[in-house]
Amino acid sequence: MKDEKRIEELKQLIAKYDKQYYELGQSDISDAEYDRLYEEYVKLEEQYPELKEMKDSPTRKVGAGDDAGTTTLFPKYTHKSPLLSINQKSRDLNDLKDFYENVGGDGTEVIVEPKLDGITCNINYENGIFVNAATRGNGYVGDLITENFQNTDTFYPKTLSDNASLEVRGEAIIPYDMFKKSLQDDYSNPRNAVAGIMRSQDSQDIKDKGIQVMFYDIGKVEYVPLEDSDSNNVDYLKCVGFGSVPVCLVDTWQDLRKVVESRLNGMIKEVDGFNVLIADGYPQAVCDGLVIKVNSRQKRKELGMTEKGPRWAFAYKFKPLHALTTLIDIEWQVGKSGKVVPVAVFDEITLGGVKISKATLNNPDYIQTMPVLYKERTVWHVKSYDNWGELAYIPYHEPIADIDFILPGDVLIDTCPEKSQGEMERIIVQCIDSDRTGFYITDSEFDGEWYPFEADRYYFANKEYGLHQGDVIIVERSNDVIPRIVAIHHHVTDRLIEIPDKCPVCGHALILDGPQLFCQNPDCSGQILGKMIQFVSRDGMNIVGLGGSILEVLLERGYIQTYADIYRLDRFEKEILSLEKFGTRKYQNLQKSIQESTNVTLSQFLFALGIPLVGKKTAKDLARTFITLDNFLSTTHKQLLSIPDINTKTASGIMEWLEDENHKGMIQDLMQYIQIKEETKSTNELAGKSFVITGTLKNPRQYYQKMIEERGGKVVGSVSKKTYAILIGENAGSKETKARRLIEDGVDIIILDNEDKINDFFR
Ligand code: IVH
Repeated sequence: MKDEKRIEELKQLIAKYDKQYYELGQSDISDAEYDRLYEEYVKLEEQYPELKEMKDSPTRKVGAGDDAGTTTLFPKYTHKSPLLSINQKSRDLNDLKDFYENVGGDGTEVIVEPKLDGITCNINYENGIFVNAATRGNGYVGDLITENFQNTDTFYPKTLSDNASLEVRGEAIIPYDMFKKSLQDDYSNPRNAVAGIMRSQDSQDIKDKGIQVMFYDIGKVEYVPLEDSDSNNVDYLKCVGFGSVPVCLVDTWQDLRKVVESRLNGMIKEVDGFNVLIADGYPQAVCDGLVIKVNSRQKRKELGMTEKGPRWAFAYKFKPLHALTTLIDIEWQVGKSGKVVPVAVFDEITLGGVKISKATLNNPDYIQTMPVLYKERTVWHVKSYDNWGELAYIPYHEPIADIDFILPGDVLIDTCPEKSQGEMERIIVQCIDSDRTGFYITDSEFDGEWYPFEADRYYFANKEYGLHQGDVIIVERSNDVIPRIVAIHHHVTDRLIEIPDKCPVCGHALILDGPQLFCQNPDCSGQILGKMIQFVSRDGMNIVGLGGSILEVLLERGYIQTYADIYRLDRFEKEILSLEKFGTRKYQNLQKSIQESTNVTLSQFLFALGIPLVGKKTAKDLARTFITLDNFLSTTHKQLLSIPDINTKTASGIMEWLEDENHKGMIQDLMQYIQIKEETKSTNELAGKSFVITGTLKNPRQYYQKMIEERGGKVVGSVSKKTYAILIGENAGSKETKARRLIEDGVDIIILDNEDKINDFFR
């Protein structure tokens, strides 16, 4: 092969730059130079197809390839047996039930353990002596971190009897109390803290941080008489001095459900929005769920593996997290369509490491029907007799009429008829079982106990609804849904939140359309601001440097009133330059961005216009169908309806908008400045945009990389201000944290942290 030398050279260069890029987050060459090398290689591969078959072909590698999960900072270590991960996972009990049935159902022993949220490590003994410690890495090869491990506070024996050779696996964690005491200013959660600290090049940094590895699994083993029962093996680990995890052994679905629903018999509690293991003899590890494993090692072998992971293990992920906070204010925000949406502002809380201080309340109805969870209402004392026939006074309360009104965190008083007043017990609801026939309780001598629901046996809040000023509210966050207020914990004032009857921005009368409030004043500056924000947004005209607060000032001062005014902003150059925080450079950059925006695709333009019900996807559909703006402007209702995914409501909305003379004038005015590029068939909408993929997603990395590259985007290894979007899967680490920090600092990065968002984005 005459190009053999060049091929080899290219392979080495690409491997070198890949490594720089994906592992160190930096590169000696520009992206364009890298692309040239890569393209040269691809051309050669086309010429010599046999190259494609070679394992080290750069075109077969994705990102950091097989090295993903390790860094260049530490020597590499190949585990003797791979560290598996669990691919069967869900937060739905029905899926757990299916899993249990698939592994044999009732009669099959399974163990339930906390799923620790830390850094997976393997430690290795040879001939009875501790040899080294390594991170999980990609499951096969990890980072050798022996010295760092030795400086943790882990309980582990330095030697084992019987010359045992053994791989022991566990999770390095920082106990929540330690995190809170000294690390929470630097890290958003204990997992990020332990990941960051364990990666330190100076092993002294590890000391006194409280880091411990909690062991739960045995890998390759020689000269240790392992038992068939894994719970016995974990007991063995404990006996010989390893810090380990609490293990529950069950063999029926009923018991398994109980242990899972009671969050390991009450051992895992919500603390400040984290799920924390609180059990005697164990560190306060933060958990993100429970691991359920078939107990018999023989049975595990029989069940075997699928391509993706073992059939004998299941990860049950916890339900959303809750936190209490105090309502400070309601902001009534006017959107581009005139919809007035209440947004609750509350004392900042952190749920699972994410700071939250605002949440939408959707509409007035949502405010007025928000349930009050618990209100202890002692009306009067009734006479009753206790067990010994003596007179006792029992406070009267309304009995619970409906289990839907009991939620986690509720305090109930058990009014069991046999109990006298003094004996009556306050119990805290931990969670409701999935069949809603009972609940588990916490914080009493019956911690973790399941209580059947009996309507007259507990008293609770009388049914009450409606948000009041200063309410203590319950905020919920699950990984894949935006945080929301689910209920009122209790009122502090008797002042109900009032629903405004006038627009908070322009004072125009508000009207209710269905459950939604609207301001119908077309000149309302709140609406205009909303429209402007959409116009300049990244998916619209993409004008950088015109954020909501700047637009607000420009509107307020009358420098802009219509979209086209943005393109005539130079008339007010002097005035703008005299605005606070608006230097020459900023102004020049803004002008540059405005100029660049004059050349847009039709779909961007249609989205920017803010036509009712025309979101990103519909704008694309319209652009693909009509190709030119003129075609679109002269469309008919019938033509619109022939486009798949456009329904009557959308078609009517578009027609109505098009027929409005004001809109015609507005477009004409704009077209003096704007040129519309025809939409090409091959979409290149993400050209020049950088994406970061992190954590374990539903599909392999290649799948997402292809979607990004097909649209002209590129995947890079590290998060920076230039990152356009980040795809976040399970167990994402520092990249997610960095992206969220940058967002907090005002950088615009799109977070795609669940499969639905990803699908929507690439639709
Ligand atoms: S057992 C095949 N037990 O969670 C199962 N894993 O995908 C082998 N993890 O990164 C692992 N707590 O390292 C097991 N009590 C526990 C665990 C646990 C956390 C980690 C594991 C892996 C992920 C599961």
